[in-house]
Amino acid sequence: MDIDAKIKLGVIGCGYWGPNLIRNFSSLPNCIVKTASDLKPGRLEFIKKDFPFIEITGDYKKIIEDKSIDAVCIATPVTTHKCIAEEALKAGKHVFVEKPMTNSSEDAVTLVETAKKLNRKLAVGHVFQFAPAVRKIKELLQSESIGKVMHITSTRINLGPPETEVDVIWDLGPHDFSIILYLLEEIPVDVNCLRNSFPFNPSKVKGTSIPLVNDAHIDLKFESGITSHIHLSWLSSNKTRLMQIFGTEGTIVYDEMLALDGKVKLYGKGIDNRINSKASDTVKLGYQAGEIHIVPLEQHEPLRMECGEFINSIVNDTKPVNDGLIGLEVVKLLECSSKV
Ligand SMILES: NC(=O)c1ccc[n+]([C@@H]2O[C@H](COP(=O)([O-])OP(=O)(O)OC[C@H]3O[C@@H](n4cnc5c(N)ncnc54)[C@H](O)[C@@H]3O)[C@@H](O)[C@H]2O)c1
Repeated sequence: MDIDAKIKLGVIGCGYWGPNLIRNFSSLPNCIVKTASDLKPGRLEFIKKDFPFIEITGDYKKIIEDKSIDAVCIATPVTTHKCIAEEALKAGKHVFVEKPMTNSSEDAVTLVETAKKLNRKLAVGHVFQFAPAVRKIKELLQSESIGKVMHITSTRINLGPPETEVDVIWDLGPHDFSIILYLLEEIPVDVNCLRNSFPFNPSKVKGTSIPLVNDAHIDLKFESGITSHIHLSWLSSNKTRLMQIFGTEGTIVYDEMLALDGKVKLYGKGIDNRINSKASDTVKLGYQAGEIHIVPLEQHEPLRMECGEFINSIVNDTKPVNDGLIGLEVVKLLECSSKV
């Protein structure tokens, strides 16, 4: 492909996650990462080692001002997202911003409205919307493989960082919220949250001694009657990412920690002869689990698909599935969970 026809991208923020985005955007046939920016020179040297052709700068405004750059990817801490994304949109760039989109719904609304007004693409780093397991589960729900969905439980737990800018809700919650909203295509009507700051293994607001929420139980209720319970925690040495979807005709179990063959299992409804048993029944009463079916999954890197979705949305003028609107709904849920 002619280099001039490729979408030219600037990446702002090259800490832990930024280099993964650079690797994936660089691997796409219709994208070229032109410039990378970070405040820390060491991070830029690290990028140069693997990507000698990428220009580097300590000042992200050089990316915003570069007229040859079509789009910007932002992987800085959440407190900076709104300001950088708004500047980029106003300079005519398409924007991919990491999760959570902003740290307030007011700022999220501003970004959605700015992108709409200026006719620019706005996508949010909801990488699990692109995970093979989540894609497959969406298909299974659409074909009613487990009948009607009644309840979703999710457990996302691991040990937390000693110092950070966000609590466990804003760190891990975007993943569950974005998966559940994507799967159900429905916005919750009620949110409840029990928050704890256990002194065991405490996480503090960066540069202070203020404790952060390190354990949260969130309950969602949808108009359709579906409910959901999400447990987020930084207290567990046993990293767990387990989602279970209970339907009227069976259950889907999604364990992100397992290898591809086995991540998603479909449990049939089973047989329970205790239901409607009659006084005259002489057989043993009991229940049997249904058949367990391991669901085959496609092998693909979710992050590469996510990067591709953003670039293709620019090239083909389509709406990315992880657009600003779902980003806004996720931020609203994070905000509600932090207040109720
Ligand atoms: N989608 C995912 O699974 C996933 C995983 C990890 C992190 N993230 C998200 O990515 C973002 C970054 O997280 P991280 O863990 O990489 O954080 P990090 O602290 O490791 O990296 C952030 C980098 O941004 C740089 N930075 C800050 N302000 C800047 C500015 N004005 N100009 C240029 N560089 C600047 C910092 O120097 C730092 O190197 C967060 O929003 C986080 O939630 C997403």
